Amino acid sequence: MTETLAQRRVLLVIGGGIAAYKALDLIRRLRERGASVCPVLTAGAQEFVTPLAAAALAGERAHTNLFDRASEAEIGHIKLARQADAVVVAPATANLMARMAGGHAADLATTVLLATTLPILIAPAMNVQMWAHPATRRNRAVLEGDGVRIVGPNAGRMAEPESGPGRMAEPNEIADALERMLGQQAGDRPLAGRRVLVTSGPTHEPIDPVRYIANRSSGRQGHAIAAAAAAAGAAVTLVSGPVALPDPPGVAVVRVETARQMLEAVEAALPADIAVFAAAVADWRPEQEAGSKKIKKDGTGPAPMPLVENPDILATIARLPVGRPPLVVGFAAETDTVVEHARAKIARKGCDLIVANDVSAEGGVMGGADNTVHLIRRDGAVETWPRLGKEEVARRLVAHVAGLLAG
Ligand code: CTP
Repeated sequence: MTETLAQRRVLLVIGGGIAAYKALDLIRRLRERGASVCPVLTAGAQEFVTPLAAAALAGERAHTNLFDRASEAEIGHIKLARQADAVVVAPATANLMARMAGGHAADLATTVLLATTLPILIAPAMNVQMWAHPATRRNRAVLEGDGVRIVGPNAGRMAEPESGPGRMAEPNEIADALERMLGQQAGDRPLAGRRVLVTSGPTHEPIDPVRYIANRSSGRQGHAIAAAAAAAGAAVTLVSGPVALPDPPGVAVVRVETARQMLEAVEAALPADIAVFAAAVADWRPEQEAGSKKIKKDGTGPAPMPLVENPDILATIARLPVGRPPLVVGFAAETDTVVEHARAKIARKGCDLIVANDVSAEGGVMGGADNTVHLIRRDGAVETWPRLGKEEVARRLVAHVAGLLAG
């Protein structure tokens, strides 16, 4: 299975060899195929090509130093090692291969290569004898054992008057190998090309400028679902109430406070292929709009506070006559008879699937790290999962809905 490079991000480590000039052409080829390229140059590479040339072709900054004040503040080498879909090392010199095999972290390139968990493709380029040397053969075997993919080297004329394998693979061959490598992982990206909308967290319904109605939702489950959907390749919008969580990587986050703002943000984020409503939306809000003045005690006891019902975001979207997402997933927070209540809820709200969880105080689910859920389908079928971390619930749920969507 091959995969296009459209929307994929490639961290390109350029090593110090004469083939470095071909790495500049590789940047061009990768971009032609729709990828964005973040170049990292070793000190050796800079003897052959300039960071400026790499940056100009990539259309973004080229990175060279491990201790670069600007990029340490803005990006940092660890982030650099994460914010891509793959790492390509071209040319991979004998020295660079040795340092990779040895786990060195002496400069930015090797530190990034050691810190990354992304798939790595290397395009070796070196003198014929160096390629044939037992040390290089050992390093190659170590790297292959570590899961590093290798493209080339090709036999043919090289800078020196020797011939045999050592010449770096052509840029288009490297790009093809990268597509194949990413394609093999496409099985891990079942939501590639899909749009997913997730709501998360509580809502706050203001009583006055300093007080509000809220609930104990932490947003952990919803945020984990957004992260898992993004990791599965989806374009994700997360509409979140007030939470103390960092934004999940690779997700567009829209922050809201009240239920009505959440509904508005959800409508603005459509269309979507899948909508997951994990937010614990406040059912009621004070009828009286919060003014700018704090409500004061007047000695006659608490002021009456009539409540009105908030819009039901899940039901509104699940019943949209036009533009309803093909798969609408709700959550049911229940403290008793979890499955029966959830079955009734699925009918009442018009969604396709309900993830029901027991939020009774004994379970510690609200705000906690684990969750025990039941998946209830519209036809009433129930699947119960063991107690799992919220991240694992999220991954399983994403795999489940991807399967449903694929039919
Ligand atoms: N929900 C919503 N908008 C609301 C209330 C709930 O979108 N105003 C969604 C939640 O995100 C969740 C589902 O509806 O996916 C069920 O939420 P839950 O609080 O369990 O149910 P309620 O509708 O509040 O019903 P009840 O209070 O009777 O349990």
